[in-house]
Amino acid sequence: MTDSASSGRKSAKKVYYPSNHFSQRACIKSFSEYQKLYSSSIRNPEKFWKAQASILNWFKPFTAVFQQKKKPFCKWFAGGKLNASYNCIDRHIALRGDKKAIIWQGEPEEDVKVLTYTELLQEVCKFAHVLRKFGVRKGDRVCIYLPMIPEIAISMLACARIGAIHAVVFGGFSAQALAKRINDSGAKLLVTADGSFRRGKIVELKEAADEALLQCKHVKRVVVVKRAGNKIRMKRGRDVWWHQEMEKKGVGNFIEPILMDAEDTLFLLYTSGTTGMPKGMEHTTGGYLVYAALTMKYIFDLREEDVYFCTADIGWITGHSYIVYGPLCNGATVVMYEGAPDAPDPGRFWKIVEKFKVSIFYTAPTVIRALAKEGEQWPRGHELSSLRLLGTVGEPINPESWRWYFNNIGKGKCPIVDTWWQTETGGILISPLPGAVPLKPGSATVPFFGIEPEILREDGKKAKAGEGGYLAIKKPWPGIARTIWKNPKRYVETYFSKFNGKYLTGDGAMVDEDGYYWITGRIDDVIKVSGHRIGTAEVESALVSYPGVAEAAVVPVPHPIKGEAIYAFVVLKKGKIGDDELKLKLIEHVKKEIGAIAKPEAIQFAEGLPKTRSGKIMRRVLKAIASGSAEVGDVSTMADAGVVEELKNGASFVQG
Ligand code: PRX
Repeated sequence: MTDSASSGRKSAKKVYYPSNHFSQRACIKSFSEYQKLYSSSIRNPEKFWKAQASILNWFKPFTAVFQQKKKPFCKWFAGGKLNASYNCIDRHIALRGDKKAIIWQGEPEEDVKVLTYTELLQEVCKFAHVLRKFGVRKGDRVCIYLPMIPEIAISMLACARIGAIHAVVFGGFSAQALAKRINDSGAKLLVTADGSFRRGKIVELKEAADEALLQCKHVKRVVVVKRAGNKIRMKRGRDVWWHQEMEKKGVGNFIEPILMDAEDTLFLLYTSGTTGMPKGMEHTTGGYLVYAALTMKYIFDLREEDVYFCTADIGWITGHSYIVYGPLCNGATVVMYEGAPDAPDPGRFWKIVEKFKVSIFYTAPTVIRALAKEGEQWPRGHELSSLRLLGTVGEPINPESWRWYFNNIGKGKCPIVDTWWQTETGGILISPLPGAVPLKPGSATVPFFGIEPEILREDGKKAKAGEGGYLAIKKPWPGIARTIWKNPKRYVETYFSKFNGKYLTGDGAMVDEDGYYWITGRIDDVIKVSGHRIGTAEVESALVSYPGVAEAAVVPVPHPIKGEAIYAFVVLKKGKIGDDELKLKLIEHVKKEIGAIAKPEAIQFAEGLPKTRSGKIMRRVLKAIASGSAEVGDVSTMADAGVVEELKNGASFVQG
């Protein structure tokens, strides 16, 4: 990469150009090449996507590229037949059978497992047999509640092989949160583990699963992976051990992948929204896979010899698209790890990079901020020369962290792809192509092929360059979630009602005079805590379910490491005393209801909440108070303006 300060208004912002060396070998070698391909993808999307769909092997060709009979619902590659596990594994065997597909680093340093593509095929087929034996058929849902061990990828691909729909639930979610997701999905089988290691301790997953299953009557079978060796209870007639089932008679090394329609559901993944129950976003086999594979190839500029390490948990969309489906579909070698970035020390990732000669590294800004705080000695202590490309995802990256990452990890030579996308989008929508697009720290830069973002004003008109607004996407793309599981009405209302059928992202953004996108963050009631997506409504309902709590309102506050933290205002019932002990109890309660990721950083007890005359909580005012801002804005619509002063006096600020 080379630096250059461009002229005029932009001079304050340094632009980083890809080096000739990088560009010459890249998939897309120049900005003009990007522009040419981008324009053709927008001018004639059907032609573009028809050609790009050849990134997959189709058992039967599709008959239509795109169909939209009933807006906003759409179909991609209708009539086409394929199988995701075949595309991720079988088709690589001839050329890459002995290539490493997955390199797994457990928390204890000596726990390493490597699966070649041939071995992965065998494991996936065996587990597909196990699922079949337990009555799992096409269209059935299987819930996967596993830590970061290879079996999580194996289970997903085994589901895909036999047409079952997987619903992975992040291992950090509590029993209550798991139960809600299992029940909504109607899963009949659960895959979990005894436990896993994190910071030297065992995370008791089976215990949480057992507690959840008390509320889940559909689940008839639980397959348990032995990972941590901790003592667990196995319920007779329901629970079986993974390793025992995999060795049983009849569990062969191969099973035919079934033919799936392009529009058949590949998976559900729950994500938080503005209101109520998390939404089961439904992703399809054909469109999702084309999109995940193509973005992986171009944005990570994938080469045959790359070793790619993504630090996300597979329980989130990043892990689905860019640990499992995207990389494996491209025949890549992917590194996954168990544990935490800072245990046993903050050099953990750099040690993994050195050990496996990682060439592409993809993580979240919150991780970079936390590791930067620990000092440069950690990356300096490791050989990082194998790296050639870096990436970030999950939240806006502040330019200082970007530069720290660029200089200390990439040693000034690795481009950084700041990738903007969402659970709903299936894959990356806005990002640099590393050999072609000059970088501006803090900007996700330009749209991927086929994506037409728009910055809209409240009235739906387009904002000018430099003017902030709602980020919307004008037309569907293959990777867009097709609906919300069992709730198409909510899908239409949430995403397509505000701007006349355009996809509403929930983010605010701005485009600069060069056409670069700058994402400013969520503008709905979703909070991004360390890149994790938390709905305010979920935290509020957890708080009010605690005895003595009358009302609660939750807002984000800026946090130096986490990006945003959760600040909760709690109104108690008459006669209840709000003290520190109760604060701790409430925090514990939220952990129990949702998981540690959703726990409030600060709780403020209040006499009342600022509301409009129609009774709506004024979050804007609460946000200002929580952030310690003297200005709370216009309060003329407030029912009782006196509440503000009282709240300001009681505010307790979040420390870094
Ligand atoms: O606010 C945006 C933020 O993450 C949200 C989506 O969260 P989730 O569905 O959990 O998916 C995260 C991983 C794709 C977005 O609405 N976000 C994601 N990537 C970026 C980002 N904000 C700024 N810059 C990004 N690169």
